[in-house]
Amino acid sequence: MLIFLFVTIKESTARSIPQSNANPLLKRGEEKKCYDHVFATSTFLDDKFSGIISFTYNDFTCTTYVYGMFAKGFVDPEKNCYDIVLNDPSGKTVYNLTNKLGLDFVDGGTKPFYATIDFNFMEFLSIDRKRQNGASVGINTNNQPSSSAPALPQSP
Ligand SMILES: *[C@@H]1O[C@H](CO)[C@@H](O)[C@H](O)[C@H]1NC(C)=O
Repeated sequence: MLIFLFVTIKESTARSIPQSNANPLLKRGEEKKCYDHVFATSTFLDDKFSGIISFTYNDFTCTTYVYGMFAKGFVDPEKNCYDIVLNDPSGKTVYNLTNKLGLDFVDGGTKPFYATIDFNFMEFLSIDRKRQNGASVGINTNNQPSSSAPALPQSP
């Protein structure tokens, strides 16, 4: 619920910016009346992991906001090394979220996490729209892929 609220606030902020502002980014917004934005979620629900990561991006800030939390899957985080990455449709890692998220492990899951990343999530989702196996979020355990979930755009 909080996530939806945040998106709404962002959007209304963008719309209420004075029309006279000379910033080229704002001018672009004036022409389009509102800014393009995307909200996507990746839900992990398999025999290992249970959790969700969501992403919002708008072309006003050109920043991707990441939120999420896991309830299970991170076994022995002191011994095992876990990474969360963004993979393109071919499975190639295009962004490594691990350091940005700074995951705090509790009882096999994580505390809620939040980060802003300098990454165009809208472009990431458009890499290959036609293929069923599109952009995804992957979890690597000790540098081996161990789970992944598609990044699915949600309608506002
Ligand atoms: C992601 O970053 C972590 C922490 O720096 C590193 O251990 C890991 O090897 C990286 N994974 C990939 C696929 O780049």
